[in-house]
Amino acid sequence: MGEPSPPKSPVVVEAHEVATFQPPEKMFAKHPSKPHLSGLEEYQQLYKESITEPNKFWGRLARELLTWHKDFQTVHSGSLASGDNAWFLEGELNASYNCIDRHAFKDPNKVAIIYEADEPGQGRNVTYGELLREVSKLAHVLTNMGVRKGDTVAIYLPMIPEAVVALLACSRIGAVHSVVFAGFSADSLRDRVIDGGSKVVITTDEGKRGGKLIGTKKIVDEALKQCPDVGHVVVFKRTGADIPMKPGRDFWWHEEVEKWPAYIPPTPVNSEDPLFLLYTSGSTGKPKGVMHTTGGYLLGAAATGKYVFDIHDSDRYFCGGDVGWITGHTYVVYAPLLLGVSTVVFEGTPAYPNFSRYWDIIEEHKVTQFYVAPTALRLLKRAGDQHVRNEMKHLRVLGSVGEPIAAEVWKWYYEVVGKEKAQIVDTYWQTETGSNAITPLAGVTPTKPGCATLPFFGIEPAIVDPVSGEEIHGNDVEGVLAFKQPWPSMARTVWGAHKRYLDTYLHVYKGLYFTGDGAGRDHEGFYWIRGRVDDVVNVSGHRLSTAEIEAALIEHASVAEAAVVGVADELTGQAVNAFVAVKNGVETSDALRKEFILQVRRSIGPFAAPKAVYIVADLPKTRSGKIMRRILRKILAGEEDQLGDISTLSDPSVVEKIIDVVHEAK
Ligand code: WT7
Repeated sequence: MGEPSPPKSPVVVEAHEVATFQPPEKMFAKHPSKPHLSGLEEYQQLYKESITEPNKFWGRLARELLTWHKDFQTVHSGSLASGDNAWFLEGELNASYNCIDRHAFKDPNKVAIIYEADEPGQGRNVTYGELLREVSKLAHVLTNMGVRKGDTVAIYLPMIPEAVVALLACSRIGAVHSVVFAGFSADSLRDRVIDGGSKVVITTDEGKRGGKLIGTKKIVDEALKQCPDVGHVVVFKRTGADIPMKPGRDFWWHEEVEKWPAYIPPTPVNSEDPLFLLYTSGSTGKPKGVMHTTGGYLLGAAATGKYVFDIHDSDRYFCGGDVGWITGHTYVVYAPLLLGVSTVVFEGTPAYPNFSRYWDIIEEHKVTQFYVAPTALRLLKRAGDQHVRNEMKHLRVLGSVGEPIAAEVWKWYYEVVGKEKAQIVDTYWQTETGSNAITPLAGVTPTKPGCATLPFFGIEPAIVDPVSGEEIHGNDVEGVLAFKQPWPSMARTVWGAHKRYLDTYLHVYKGLYFTGDGAGRDHEGFYWIRGRVDDVVNVSGHRLSTAEIEAALIEHASVAEAAVVGVADELTGQAVNAFVAVKNGVETSDALRKEFILQVRRSIGPFAAPKAVYIVADLPKTRSGKIMRRILRKILAGEEDQLGDISTLSDPSVVEKIIDVVHEAK
């Protein structure tokens, strides 16, 4: 597609004093050929086509990047206003065929999965040929358990190759996978199994992460006490722990797969048939089962893998995200496998056995693209540059995802990790967008530290005035971020709650998709993501709803009321702080505070635990009973002098008491 960009000066300082970084020249020098696009101009041309002639653009890409069992005639139908978007309507395809078979036929010995176990040196490689056999066998097992096209299977697995096998085995028979992050509690797992209508659960005896054991099967057993519709549990033996197996319900993975042949034909599904559900937090207490469909989602994954990460045939791609979240779905599993490259499945943590773990993996496996959340980078930056001695000379692309990346962390990533020879792509997207939405394209887009830069193909951003709901045109503007056109990998619904889908995303600003984030467009038309404008907090790149944590706290017998707010945190981006008003007669104590934290761990999962709990006499409420979280945020930020008018509170004197409690704790 043309020649690589001519060398450009690496750093240009703008009048606004934000440095612009051109794709580093040294990245081109180590490129296996050249980037898929010749430069910014070609991006602009294609982008224009994707917006003005989306059917032509996406029709072409869908046929180029995916293999269809039956071709489609209609590229797109529906609209954002009516919430009935559908893509590649008559088309039929199979996700696992696209991720495995077509590559296995070409070269069965090519490595599909590079498994890095929690303990260094204990991993293994899985080739495309092996992957086809393992997926086929598990697909037989699921079929034998009664799983049919359209049925939901819950997956509660750590980051092991079998997690990839499980997702693809579901898709091979047209079943819908519903992965639940293996850090969720039994209660959260139960809610998701019930809401998704899962009939089978796939798990391990135990998990192992950062040298610690996680009792996955035990949590599944606990959750399933209240899930009468789950008839079968498949258990992969990861550690060999002695665990109870319920006869007739629980089956060992290794015993079952032995019974079945190593090939099963893929079941073609309609492009709009669901591929998976993935639960995510919203601004209310109940998690949403975001539904993605097959054709559109796969196209988004393949297209962003190709153009954002500039994936080429010989690449080895390492996304540090967990398969329990969307990042793991799209960039550990689907994007790299659709493009037929090797993907690293990493079971451990960046700090185990030491702070060089990521860099050792990158060095050992000659990783070409690395993708991780800023929270991990902050931890590693703080640990010290001495841990980043590795040369990592194959790295071309360094991705960031999940939260804004501070300029100094961005620069550290670029200089210390990338040695100024790899491009940073700060990718903005969401569970609901399915794939990267606003992001630089590696080798193509100039970048600015902390800036998500320009929209991906088909994404037409609007900056909207949150009060009037009007689009704000021009550059140098701030507002909330919305998208004006549908795109193939957008979520189609919230499982069993389509009205909630419409109300949350499509009816906030009629005719637009509302992201829930604030954003600015700078003087050059580049986008800067400012963070959520709703009651969603972002802790270490994990999305948490304050309402959900409040609901968990209120379950405790001593709690009368609770208010949860997100506060800035050096390491985790935001941290959860809880204000709890206890019932009359309950004694305040440290032990009680610990109980409240435990309550959240038990109800949601350890990652949602409040960092601080303040036990107060009462919460600041309006006369109509609405909790004024804004006041609590100000107090925590030490801005007690900027509380504004508190006379509208039903009892303004509670504020003084809360300030005392916070001061005492600090
Ligand atoms: C929210 C989506 C899909 C990625 C993993 C998180 C925030 C995501 C960025 C970024 C600033 C970002 C937004 C978004 N976010 N990427 N590059 N810069 N903020 O997925 O759990 O669905 O959360 O993460 O607030 O709305 P998620």
